[in-house]
Amino acid sequence: MSTKLYGGVSGRRVTVRDLAAAKERGERWPMLTAYDAMTARVFDEAGIPVLLVGDSAAMVVYGYDSTLPVTVDELLPLTAAVVRGSRRALVVADLPFGSYQASAAQALETAARFMKEAGAHAVKLEGGRRVLPQVEALVAAGVPVMAHLGLTPQSVNVLGGYRVQGRGQAGDELMADAKDLERAGAFAVVLECVPADLAERVTTSLSIPTIGIGAGAATDAQVLVWQDLMGLTPQPAKFVKRYGDLGADLGRAARAFASDVTSGAFPTGEHAYG
Ligand code: KIV
Repeated sequence: MSTKLYGGVSGRRVTVRDLAAAKERGERWPMLTAYDAMTARVFDEAGIPVLLVGDSAAMVVYGYDSTLPVTVDELLPLTAAVVRGSRRALVVADLPFGSYQASAAQALETAARFMKEAGAHAVKLEGGRRVLPQVEALVAAGVPVMAHLGLTPQSVNVLGGYRVQGRGQAGDELMADAKDLERAGAFAVVLECVPADLAERVTTSLSIPTIGIGAGAATDAQVLVWQDLMGLTPQPAKFVKRYGDLGADLGRAARAFASDVTSGAFPTGEHAYG
């Protein structure tokens, strides 16, 4: 069987070693969010090697207006569903706001729940040097950690909104954070909403893969929230490219179903049991 990373047939799950090897080969790869078994299966069969159960579930699944309210107990069943729905993808669980910031011990307790109760293969957390003790403790305990820099939505109230990060001198700080996270053992780092030239510098300076979202074309991987990509989000951010129009398709199908029910056109004999 091939062990090719992106879209490759494989009889096993993708691992963090595969992602490291892809960076060495200069191979780019896609990552998507997933929150349920059916979409996880579709994306897995499409060859997406990494599925992120993002805390973006707060908005796209639970209808909150930021990622802050979502809890570990709300994300655990979504993560378990994505693991059950996929066979090849590495499934990364996002640690929600308030579930890891307090201490390394809290981070380890939360990560252990995602791995034991949901079967996650790795976790993601937001922040730079301030979360190094957490990253070190998780890695020492055998938990692969994906880091997240730039626009970190759990800090939206400190950042003053969803805006581009890392311009000017802040770029040097982000670079220092990225290097420290790599040293602490993170296996990859998400760069969200940062200038493309900064993302390129970080990508060439690190030996671990960078995963961009609104970070230009030079990162090793790209991630999008699937509802943005497929046209379910009414006003997606500038960095989103639409690859589908599911919002319109679902609306059309729901209206056609309603019309058939009210007119009596559905169900017919072919949908009935004798
Ligand atoms: O929660 C999420 O979906 C994320 C991605 C956008 C990287 O953190």
